[in-house]
Amino acid sequence: MAQLTAQIVSHDADFKQHIARLVRACGVPVGILEGRSGAEIGGPDLVVVDIRADAASGMAAIERIRAASANVAIFAVASAAEPDLILRSMRAGANEFFPWMPGGQTQASRDMEESFHGAVRRSAARREAAHAGAKPPCITHVFLGAKGGAGTTTVAVNSAVEVARLTKRGVVIVDLASSLGEVALFLGVRPRFTVLDAIENLHRLDKDFLKELISKHKSGLDILAGSEQFDRPNAQDAPAIEELLRVLARLYDYTVIDAGNIVNAVAVASLYAADAIFLVANPDVPSIRNAQRMVDRVRQLGAGSERIKIVLNRVSDQNLIAPKQIETALGYGIHQMFTSDYRAVSEALNSGVPLALSNHSDIAGQFGTFARNLVGMSAGEDAKEQPERKRVFLGIF
Ligand SMILES: Nc1ncnc2c1ncn2[C@@H]1O[C@H](COP(=O)(O)OP(=O)(O)OP(=O)(O)O)[C@@H](O)[C@H]1O
Ligand SMILES: [Mg+2]
Repeated sequence: MAQLTAQIVSHDADFKQHIARLVRACGVPVGILEGRSGAEIGGPDLVVVDIRADAASGMAAIERIRAASANVAIFAVASAAEPDLILRSMRAGANEFFPWMPGGQTQASRDMEESFHGAVRRSAARREAAHAGAKPPCITHVFLGAKGGAGTTTVAVNSAVEVARLTKRGVVIVDLASSLGEVALFLGVRPRFTVLDAIENLHRLDKDFLKELISKHKSGLDILAGSEQFDRPNAQDAPAIEELLRVLARLYDYTVIDAGNIVNAVAVASLYAADAIFLVANPDVPSIRNAQRMVDRVRQLGAGSERIKIVLNRVSDQNLIAPKQIETALGYGIHQMFTSDYRAVSEALNSGVPLALSNHSDIAGQFGTFARNLVGMSAGEDAKEQPERKRVFLGIF
């Protein structure tokens, strides 16, 4: 689904934070627009306007936003549901009106949250319908490790290469793993620029500038390499990362993200943008314990726990924990298993040639199946047989 872009107009930081949480917890991929925008970024799909402190300037803001766009969804949030205010905000151009009820403790506040979520979902559906026939929405796949060394980068990189190879469309892999990501290394590419260059130049991040920052892999995959600084991207960079992901969603057909194995602010930004979150675990106790915690955390964040899919990596006959036990422990079915094949994986890593391009091992075949599932292709089908989908980005290179 296309990401819904939202903006919150308020001088109150707590309000902004609370509304951002509400918007993000609505179960559809969203990005919150903050600060300056890149040249490729259009206006928001949804604007939430705080009219609590000053109704007159709130109305003026709603009128301005409505004048700038007939299609944007405008939600007004007031201190209380006064009929006069409701009428004035609707006349100014608001589509929805909500009384401010933070906390979620009372039934009234839970009802308000529920109807807010419903309204956001309706806006997303309307946006989807309005854009039908335009560029198909970018699909964002996030790979998150249940523990360090689970194979998150291996799975993300090999999947991205397969998606690029199978679809021959615009596919970018973004390395958001904290401290020194390894995506480019796994692909045998020496990047000149990284995600930090992208977020530090967001205001001029159009497709031409992005072209400079991207490294290309011979499979057709584009790479936005990981930072070379230990402490970045960090929590302060998270809003810029969210914006970067929105820019990429406009330019590419598929975004694949290596989110590392820590649910920090940067990883959270990617989780909110995700169509699917692949939790990469090994069949061992630390993985399963951490995976349980991560599933709980994603639920808490409201990032749509139904988007989580369990990927079990390094499966072998020697494993002491059976896949069924893992499914019971996590409360999720296992979406995909990759066998343990150190030789095939490390040969691919050392040569910089991903599995799918280099050999015919079981694990290479498993990546083929997994990637076909990701892009909705059946076995044997190739890109030409797919319905024509306009190649948006790669054409510029
Ligand atoms: N299916 C597999 N079979 C055998 N070895 C594997 C498999 N998947 C990954 N490995 C190996 O496990 C090691 C860790 O893999 P990788 O770097 O992809 O994990 P990661 O979760 O991204 O680690 P990090 O926490 O450092 O980011 C590598 O040496 C890799 O070759
Ligand atoms: Mg990694």
